Amino acid sequence: AEEKQVLKEKIRRLLKEKQAVLVAHYYVDAELQDLAEETGGCVSDSLEMARFGRDHAAKTLIVAGVRFMGETAKILSPEKTILMPDLDATCSLDLGCDATEFAAFCDAHPDRTVVVYANTSAAVKARADWMVTSSIGLDIVAHLHAQGKKILWAPDKHLGGYIQKQTGADMLLWQGSCLVHDEFKGIELDVLKAEHPHAKVLVHPESPAAVVAQADVVGSTSQLIHAAQTLDAQEFIVATDNGILHKMQMAAPGKRFIVAPTAGNSATCKSCAHCPWMAMNGLRNLLAVLEQGNNEIQVEPATAEKAKLCIHRMLDFAA
Ligand code: 13P
Ligand code: SF4
Repeated sequence: AEEKQVLKEKIRRLLKEKQAVLVAHYYVDAELQDLAEETGGCVSDSLEMARFGRDHAAKTLIVAGVRFMGETAKILSPEKTILMPDLDATCSLDLGCDATEFAAFCDAHPDRTVVVYANTSAAVKARADWMVTSSIGLDIVAHLHAQGKKILWAPDKHLGGYIQKQTGADMLLWQGSCLVHDEFKGIELDVLKAEHPHAKVLVHPESPAAVVAQADVVGSTSQLIHAAQTLDAQEFIVATDNGILHKMQMAAPGKRFIVAPTAGNSATCKSCAHCPWMAMNGLRNLLAVLEQGNNEIQVEPATAEKAKLCIHRMLDFAA
């Protein structure tokens, strides 16, 4: 514990010295989330991380999250230095959507408006008309559907399927999934709900349809935390990465949170309810990048120039 205090103290000092700010996601270690908040950085969902990084005056952003979050920060602020504790922290959605294959998919359907989830590489975004995050995807697709647009959606099939059902839009779906959320199970959730009849169910839309169908609230990480705070209930079943419980408990003290059931338990299933890539962010590698200025995110400028357009569309829509 004492050693952790020393690490944190060094990080606080270096953030100040280097005029750097820490931008963290709700799925990283609780101590990184707390450090981000207490040092004037932020902890939030993907949309807010992008906005916060873009608007902050700091020269250097340290993104504690996964690679696409660092890339989005760089694309929005090419003049800033973007560092990440571990450059290998990726995402199964990003890995499952190869840019060349994706371009071929788009080429085969030129009549469709291309909408991609934030959880993709810069090269995939460069091919898209719109980028969306989980907090705003539904509104953006509803808007495009109202204009009579047909949609090509990538990469998350569950989020895409959910949006399709809600909006009635014509959507052609790439078949990707998040390895964490894909593990939540509908039947087991049904059983757990019967054991906790008063619990409200909070679900991230990367979860399978059978899980989403049982939700009281479906939303981004920020939206789920807000629901935990504002809904009139004492008990919640939560279908998303368990890293979120730290903030939920702080936002709603006294309430009880239960992680939704997955296929395996933590002994048999390494990624059950916790993202292995988010878990690559720690105090030690955070301190190391502050000391050494290594692990800088670079996005090839021509790709960044193109990818910027679909991100700006989303941010303008959100404003
Ligand atoms: P949010 O934008 O809801 O925070 O989601 C990001 C993510 O990677 C969820 O798995
Ligand atoms: Fe990607 Fe899933 Fe990890 Fe989020 S939780 S970063 S969607 S693998």
